[in-house]
Amino acid sequence: MTISRTRVDDLPKNEAVAIAGGNAVLVRTDDGVYGFVNRCLHQDLPLTGAHVADGVLICPHHFWRYELPEGRLCSQAEAAACLATVDVSVEDDEVVVDLPSPPTAEPGSLRAHLLARAETWNRDDPPDAQHPGARRD
Ligand code: FES
Repeated sequence: MTISRTRVDDLPKNEAVAIAGGNAVLVRTDDGVYGFVNRCLHQDLPLTGAHVADGVLICPHHFWRYELPEGRLCSQAEAAACLATVDVSVEDDEVVVDLPSPPTAEPGSLRAHLLARAETWNRDDPPDAQHPGARRD
């Protein structure tokens, strides 16, 4: 877990503000402060800069809408879908956010394999070096 602290007065009202290196956003309204993972359910783009109107958070990219405080998608087709939340509490004049640890790749998983390849990949290597064992017929 990672703890992030932000002064309440530093948060503009009715706008999603990125915190913790852009991993989460805080949304301050007249009713409270809410925290979400900084990913829209539409195309996984960041919610940073999203605005709130009439209790609805509106993604800045393609205007998908999420009801506050749950972050429930305003769509009948996917009414059960909600933004991922992060734990937020207000202590004195600070917003304290408890961020989950980033997911780690399981050994042997495709994700682990791709991360390992990305660490050593060099675009200037000849194709045979990039794909050892690949056949060329
Ligand atoms: S990425 Fe949010 S509406 Fe498209």
